[in-house]
Amino acid sequence: MLNVETINLHYGAAQALKSVSLTAETGKVTCLMGRNGVGKTSTLRAIVGQHPISAGRITWNGEDVSKLAPHARARRGIAIVPQGREIFPLLSVKENLETGYACVRGKDRTIPEVIFELFPVLQSMLTRRGGDLSGGQQQQLAIARALVTRPKLLVLDEPTEGIQPSIIKDIGRAIEWLRDQGDMAIVLVEQYFEFARDLADSFAVMDRGEVVLAGSRAELDEQEVRRHLTV
Ligand SMILES: Nc1ncnc2c1ncn2[C@@H]1O[C@H](COP(=O)(O)OP(=O)(O)OP(=O)(O)O)[C@@H](O)[C@H]1O
Ligand SMILES: [Mg+2]
Repeated sequence: MLNVETINLHYGAAQALKSVSLTAETGKVTCLMGRNGVGKTSTLRAIVGQHPISAGRITWNGEDVSKLAPHARARRGIAIVPQGREIFPLLSVKENLETGYACVRGKDRTIPEVIFELFPVLQSMLTRRGGDLSGGQQQQLAIARALVTRPKLLVLDEPTEGIQPSIIKDIGRAIEWLRDQGDMAIVLVEQYFEFARDLADSFAVMDRGEVVLAGSRAELDEQEVRRHLTV
């Protein structure tokens, strides 16, 4: 289980996160929602270690990981699908997937077969350059690359951003399938309300660096959430 406990995060003098708390359970999807610039990506950066926190702590399965470097968190099963995908454009699809090997032990340095069951298009494109894929295909590749690391905590930053509806459906199905395996905690950052609502077991809504609403799926008040999502 992931426990983000009252964290602050600064960029220089500017405070991006104020006492943010969030939990994510194994076998569940936790959706983090909120308008542009409220601190969703900053929260994920704190979880994976891409930016230090200035207060609070983050525990993963009981261990305080707050001060661990990103690669050390990756070794503990924490993986990110970054906003904007960050595919290596000049590497092939296969090479993009293999970049995930850095985080796993020798015997696990294979591409899990399930990746091609979830995203068959990647199999037919293994030798193509990452940069030649469509946006939706790149998003599938970014998720697949994270799966190569055999994550137990997968955080995804707006995987539907700028993606065509048919691929959004595929991505939704993939997230559901991963959740239903029961051995992965998933934190999904999402601005597209319907997508989040359909997948979320629990949710948190941010506004100006703070969590302003949080609860289980049953507690989700659609009107309240939408109020925080519209400008
Ligand atoms: N590297 C950075 N340096 C300085 N300020 C930053 C940096 N990254 C983000 N910020 C600021 O921190 C605040 C939170 O940004 P963040 O990227 O976490 O928001 P977000 O909710 O992910 O937004 P979006 O929906 O646009 O992706 C914003 O005011 C943003 O301008
Ligand atoms: Mg963001």
